[in-house]
Amino acid sequence: MARNVGVLISGRGSNLQALIDARDRGELGGVIAVVISNVETAAGLDRARRAGIPTVVRDHRGRTREDYDDELVTVLRERGVELVCLAGFMRLLSPVFIRAFPGRILNVHPALLPAFPGLDAQEQAFEHGVKVSGATVHLVDEGLDSGPIVAQEAVPVRSDDTAESLTARILEAEHRIYPRAVRLLLEGRCRVEGRRVVVEGE
Ligand code: GAR
Repeated sequence: MARNVGVLISGRGSNLQALIDARDRGELGGVIAVVISNVETAAGLDRARRAGIPTVVRDHRGRTREDYDDELVTVLRERGVELVCLAGFMRLLSPVFIRAFPGRILNVHPALLPAFPGLDAQEQAFEHGVKVSGATVHLVDEGLDSGPIVAQEAVPVRSDDTAESLTARILEAEHRIYPRAVRLLLEGRCRVEGRRVVVEGE
């Protein structure tokens, strides 16, 4: 059975590309059935088109959050999506959306959560002076970057780093852990126990 994944983006789409590359290597464990963007000019849309993936653009402006999210849910259901991946989708999801895909929404965040949730996480970490930061893939709940953690990778913060060089190192880690986390979910190898995600066979 095809395991359909829907990817939501707002911009560059390098994490989407990492998922596409894993798919092409036969390592994703599923099919990217649709890429949805809230921004018509998102570069990630071209990545999807080049990879032969259907794209949908839905502008959120002038709509209530619930009305907009309800439409996204409809599009995803029409495509038979079972797992939703947020990949630089710069919008908070309403409970309408989250309850439509319980335990089946993943997000990638550029910090070691629960440190530095929210926007500009790499800059927050750099300014704070941490010696280690990294990337997190987590299940999405109704809080801000607060859901159970599926995968993390730490990266060092070096003395000669800038916020930009740290951001680039974290992004490489995102690209490694996101496809792996998607595969774990699609293969049904994750069990959520309270806040903990227990991975079978790990
Ligand atoms: C990534 O670094 C992702 O972790 C971050 O946006 C970037 C998107 O890049 N997401 C967040 O900060 C969400 N809070 P991409 O479009 O190249 O994948």
